[in-house]
Amino acid sequence: MCGIVGYAGRNRAAEELFEGLKKLEYRGYDSAGISTADRGEIFTVKRSGMVEGLAPLLKGLPGTVGIGHTRWATHGAANDANAHPHVCGAFSVVHNGIIENYAELREELTAAGHVFSSQTDSEVIAHLLDYYYDGDLADALRLTCARLKGCWAIAALCTHFDGFAVARRASPVILGEGEGYFAASDIYALIGRAHSYCVLEEGDIALVTHRGFTIYDCHLNPVSRQFEPLKGEKGEDGTGDCPHYMLKEIRQNARTMRATCRKFLSSVDRAALHSRLQNADKIVMVGCGTAYNAALAGVRLLGGAYDCPVSAHIASEARYDPPRVTDRSVCIAVSQSGETADTLKAAAICREAGAYLIAMTNVGYSAITRMAHKVLPVCAGPEVCVAATKSYIGQLTCFHLMSVALSPDKRAEWLLSAADDVAKIASCGEYAQVIARMCIDSRAVFFLGRGADVDVAVEGSLKLKEVSYIFSDGYPAGELKHGTLALVDESVLSVVLITDDGLAEKCKNAVEQILSRSGKVAVVTTLRQTYDELKDRVHAAWLLPPAPAHLSHFLTATALQLVAYHAAVLSGRNPDKPRNLAKSVTVE
Ligand code: F6R
Repeated sequence: MCGIVGYAGRNRAAEELFEGLKKLEYRGYDSAGISTADRGEIFTVKRSGMVEGLAPLLKGLPGTVGIGHTRWATHGAANDANAHPHVCGAFSVVHNGIIENYAELREELTAAGHVFSSQTDSEVIAHLLDYYYDGDLADALRLTCARLKGCWAIAALCTHFDGFAVARRASPVILGEGEGYFAASDIYALIGRAHSYCVLEEGDIALVTHRGFTIYDCHLNPVSRQFEPLKGEKGEDGTGDCPHYMLKEIRQNARTMRATCRKFLSSVDRAALHSRLQNADKIVMVGCGTAYNAALAGVRLLGGAYDCPVSAHIASEARYDPPRVTDRSVCIAVSQSGETADTLKAAAICREAGAYLIAMTNVGYSAITRMAHKVLPVCAGPEVCVAATKSYIGQLTCFHLMSVALSPDKRAEWLLSAADDVAKIASCGEYAQVIARMCIDSRAVFFLGRGADVDVAVEGSLKLKEVSYIFSDGYPAGELKHGTLALVDESVLSVVLITDDGLAEKCKNAVEQILSRSGKVAVVTTLRQTYDELKDRVHAAWLLPPAPAHLSHFLTATALQLVAYHAAVLSGRNPDKPRNLAKSVTVE
């Protein structure tokens, strides 16, 4: 979603901001812009399209102070006028989030003589600053924020101030110190340029100049916030040997499993976690998209390990129809980014109702970590591709370890050996490409399985549709004959996952039902015998390394991620930037 960067230092701000915005491209956006300030004047360039489109315009942006933005349209089309920054009088403003009361504010400001030049909700912020400014930027921002309803991260330049100001509510702002002083909505923009960072608290306002930061609470009382060292992992930047981040990140699945195991074993108080889960009257999980799909696997794993009811809830539904929890319940919020608005809201509702909140997240400084009683780290490292891959694998690893919280060592041993097989699968493109080619030659693709394979089928389908734009669905193989079979013909592909010996015969029935209606079938299996029986009957068969059924989802998920990746590439799509999608969905 939208991204913010701000800079005050000795270097040319335009270049610093441009580099920062490029680091935020992965979040998904449709327009970009930069404002700089120099000798009492503001210079702004903005346009729809890629950040790269700003490159030829940078020389028109003098000064060593500025703010930049990537916009993912919510209010108003993705065009030049609606791109940020928005300028009013002495102010230029960028905003992440949604201003819910913008229409009434706009009406009020229009009546006071303000003329608006965009359809965005964000533009009211620039006009409010202009309206309230009385020589003190921080105070104008305080008064402005007091009028806003909704959520925001704001950065504002003012021609009368040699720096810029930031403010946040329910949307992150991170300050970074390095060769100059930075602000950003995402730590990724700071890696390699700041040596330390701090995350602003709810309601904070900060002034950023060439000399440093001054941080205030929402009443403008000066406060100090803890700065932490910022270590960018070597090699995190760029796609390395891979043509895309998506492939690079799938290849980091094994590393993620190993790192998550190490972290869990070394930092989690297992006895306390076990006792919390053991004594829970219920365990509920909330998440969206891939994180929700990981929670589906979590339900099987924790449901098999603890006596209480365990359920997974789509966060955007749960916030309006929350699971009933008590002060003996445990809520697990699953979120790669830790910033997904619906997940935060659903988790907050459960916490307020008394549940003990566990955040399972890949981002240690994210909003969900500040809300939770306990954080279970997913150690995937920065995930740049919009489609979640390695973070899903990390979430599955966490659920495995939670399901044996008291004695996870044996499970960790199994996970580490599964990680070796995951690494082998991720480095081999041959079978994935064959199935990917069949996907792009098909009108629709169904992913089928039984038992735990259903969870991976659902995730495999999401991955394929989001990066290749091919229609797909994932569901239990047994459901085929209850409706979906009506769609099966020679133009439809079914990818059937078979990893559980006990369910293999039933899965083969589904394969036969599809074949007898001329449907195409690709089988992905860990079972040698099933492979031998089916390989000459179906259109493609991929034999994965053998694995116990409860570990096979790491293997099949990696295989399906690769299929989705190759389907995108073979059909000429950029898998890293699927159309219309954003990485961290901070709007509701
Ligand atoms: C799918 C995908 C999304 C996210 C969802 C939740 O590949 O990336 O479905 O999984 O938006 O995001 P987080 O995990 O950041 O809460």
